[in-house]
Amino acid sequence: MTKEELVEYAIEARENSYSPYSNFAVGAALLTTEGEIYLGANIENAAYGLAMCAERNAIYNAYCHGVERDDIEALAIVADTKLPVSPCGACRQVIHELFPHDKKIYLANLRGDIKEMTADELLPYAFDSDDL
Ligand code: THU
Repeated sequence: MTKEELVEYAIEARENSYSPYSNFAVGAALLTTEGEIYLGANIENAAYGLAMCAERNAIYNAYCHGVERDDIEALAIVADTKLPVSPCGACRQVIHELFPHDKKIYLANLRGDIKEMTADELLPYAFDSDDL
């Protein structure tokens, strides 16, 4: 699958965003090495702090279905931003723990821009299980 095709899945996932407070809809699509796709969208709440980001929902969706880190091939995240969407700090921490460090994360927008990054590029000098 091309990165453009995976971004299309993320755009499809974005349709299910529940974001009445920020009006900022985000979609994400996780591809496994077997070619399966797991989608996520951001889901907000009147108690604002309970919002869950699209990329974390996609990753958690995959893990809830038995996917493990080594089964993951790529992740695409998309929003209607000028530049490719930038994941929040919490998502970078989760990606660093649950996403393989040698695979690509595609940050995209609706204009067709796609920026390729790795988990280490998103969160250098990360806190992880080795620090415990
Ligand atoms: N959001 C995401 O879902 N992913 C990102 O990468 C950035 C932020 C969501 C959280 C919240 O629902 C809305 O976008 C505004 O911050």
